Amino acid sequence: MAGTGSRRIGVIGLGAIARYYLAAIEELPQWRLGAVCDLRDHAAPQVADVPRYRDHRRMLREADLDAVVVTVPNDAHAPVCIDALTAGIPVCVEKPLALTPEQARGVLAAAGGSGVLFTAFHRRSNDHVRALLREASRRGEVHEVRVRYLERIEEHTGGEDWYLDPARCGGGCLADNGPNAFDLVRMFAGEVQVRAASVTRDERGTDRQAVVYLDSATGISAEVQLDWSYPGERKDVRLRFADGTSTAADLLAGFDGFKSSLWHEYRGILQDFRDAIDGGHQDGGLAALELVAAAYAAASQDGTSEDVASEDAGRAGTRVPGKERAS
Ligand SMILES: NC(=O)c1ccc[n+]([C@@H]2O[C@H](COP(=O)([O-])OP(=O)(O)OC[C@H]3O[C@@H](n4cnc5c(N)ncnc54)[C@H](O)[C@@H]3O)[C@@H](O)[C@H]2O)c1
Repeated sequence: MAGTGSRRIGVIGLGAIARYYLAAIEELPQWRLGAVCDLRDHAAPQVADVPRYRDHRRMLREADLDAVVVTVPNDAHAPVCIDALTAGIPVCVEKPLALTPEQARGVLAAAGGSGVLFTAFHRRSNDHVRALLREASRRGEVHEVRVRYLERIEEHTGGEDWYLDPARCGGGCLADNGPNAFDLVRMFAGEVQVRAASVTRDERGTDRQAVVYLDSATGISAEVQLDWSYPGERKDVRLRFADGTSTAADLLAGFDGFKSSLWHEYRGILQDFRDAIDGGHQDGGLAALELVAAAYAAASQDGTSEDVASEDAGRAGTRVPGKERAS
């Protein structure tokens, strides 16, 4: 249904990332908060004036919502999304869309031909990424893409430890940050395939580092570096052009506070979600998950999955599979 006026949106999962959605909903005239849901009664105590639920199914039945945002842990994405889509409610879900491509296909089946499923890749709205896209189209042929997503995961969680439980998170940095990084690669290189990958895990089996090499059908090569043991935070995209020159975007430049780039990125997400409801939308959630699965498969095939003690994982740096680095 296209049209003007604000629509009632519910937020399911009130942890670390929900605050950016809640702020964007408050700022954007096209949305108003209709209800919230969390298993914990005291999550997001600043939200006091809308109905609060513990059970998302009850919220979906009772709250008369036009849309929902799903910001629960990764292992709960698929079942919660399926419930919302089955109720006919458009869904904006955090990445990764699901834990596996198979699960993601189940979510897409619940959306059917007419349901709206929008996976939130917040870096698409990053000001520096948008400027880099404009520069790339002005300068011409991109030859190589490198995306780095380096952080210390313990600084980014809401205090719950599902991130470090491979069964709940999907594996570790490759499952959780891989989708955002692969989505960035796809923005600059189009459709890509995994050529080689390496994964380094801690004693719990959580991947702490990964390097993935990809190729596009048009000859663009890409490298994705992921690290969950990095002291500090670095998120950037570097492009090399056919003429040998290169340019880069530091996604965090100018956003001095911790995670402060997220305020504008999540405003962009909710604007794009509204557009997705009103018009056509090509969701990249499944494509990103297929690249995650292919990277895990390549790492185990190449014999470059490696287990190290957690204190060593912090020092290990990124391991390079048998091929030349793209840099
Ligand atoms: N934290 C980040 O920096 C970040 C950045 C981008 C994307 N994400 C993604 O956002 C999602 C949420 O991450 P987070 O860091 O906010 O996690 P979190 O652990 O801080 O919050 C998750 C919340 O969901 C609630 N919850 C769990 N199961 C639920 C259910 N069935 N129904 C209702 N509530 C439920 C929990 O009680 C918790 O409050 C993840 O998919 C993550 O990958 C996180």
